[in-house]
Amino acid sequence: MKIIACSNGLHLAKNVAKKLKKPYSELEVKHFPDNELKVAIKTDVKKKKVILVQSFHGDINDQLVEALFAAYTAKDLGAKSITLVASYFPYLRQDKRFKPGESVSIEIVGKLIDRVFDEIAIIDPHLHREKTLGHIFKIKAHRLTANPLIAAYIKKHIKNAVIIGPDWESYKWAEKTADIIGCESAIMEKKRYSARKVEVKLNKKIDLGKRNVVIVDDIISTGHTLLESAKLLRKIGAKKIAAICVHAVFVEKAYEKLKKAKVDVVSCNTIPHKSNKIDVSDLVVNALSQ
Ligand code: R5P
Repeated sequence: MKIIACSNGLHLAKNVAKKLKKPYSELEVKHFPDNELKVAIKTDVKKKKVILVQSFHGDINDQLVEALFAAYTAKDLGAKSITLVASYFPYLRQDKRFKPGESVSIEIVGKLIDRVFDEIAIIDPHLHREKTLGHIFKIKAHRLTANPLIAAYIKKHIKNAVIIGPDWESYKWAEKTADIIGCESAIMEKKRYSARKVEVKLNKKIDLGKRNVVIVDDIISTGHTLLESAKLLRKIGAKKIAAICVHAVFVEKAYEKLKKAKVDVVSCNTIPHKSNKIDVSDLVVNALSQ
């Protein structure tokens, strides 16, 4: 096995290689003046199982091209098989044609990945209407979840917690987390009018009084979902509010806005960010050891 870090997978790949005691190498990525991209594999991959580690955030389109180029190149150099470990995998939210003429991104990236990779492992993929990764990929796909790690974090660091799922799809997740911890949970009902306009309300009466409110979500992107949730929770009595997410996407100064709204934010290190407090490398180590 050879573990190769793509440009956004360094932190995780290094850790995973160390834990698995496997060779680690960094993909060389260069841009030409016109912004064309060139990658080079700096280790011998002939007849090896190659693990490419990438987290897609920031320049996600470049990173997608980078991962695809790296996989093609590894294949060309005689690799036995190629696995993509995506600690955060993008394009899953556009899972249907919401408006006429739109691309269904999830299907397109699924097909691109299928062409070059033999296996894929994704941490907490954002699956809404698509129930399983099997609906997106034909290759073997591992769905990993940071849920038990989040529950363990809350159990250790936040006493007297009540878990809030910010939308109906996060409910099962919030409920599961609450079950592991042994605390109460509730759900916010969310109506999204546009990428930046979201309205939320709580599904049941709950005494937030002296509790530590913890909103658990898979992604924080613009932060609007959480800001609206926090606003409502304060209106109905919440004092201390924390938010824990898997993927710290944080665009448009979301992190700063949440800090200003006095929401303590904690995230998993699927995307490197200063709020990272939960390490997911063991999830990858376990998946690769099977
Ligand atoms: C949506 O279904 C997700 O679970 C998150 O709630 C959403 O992606 C967060 O986005 P934003 O931070 O832009 O409101």
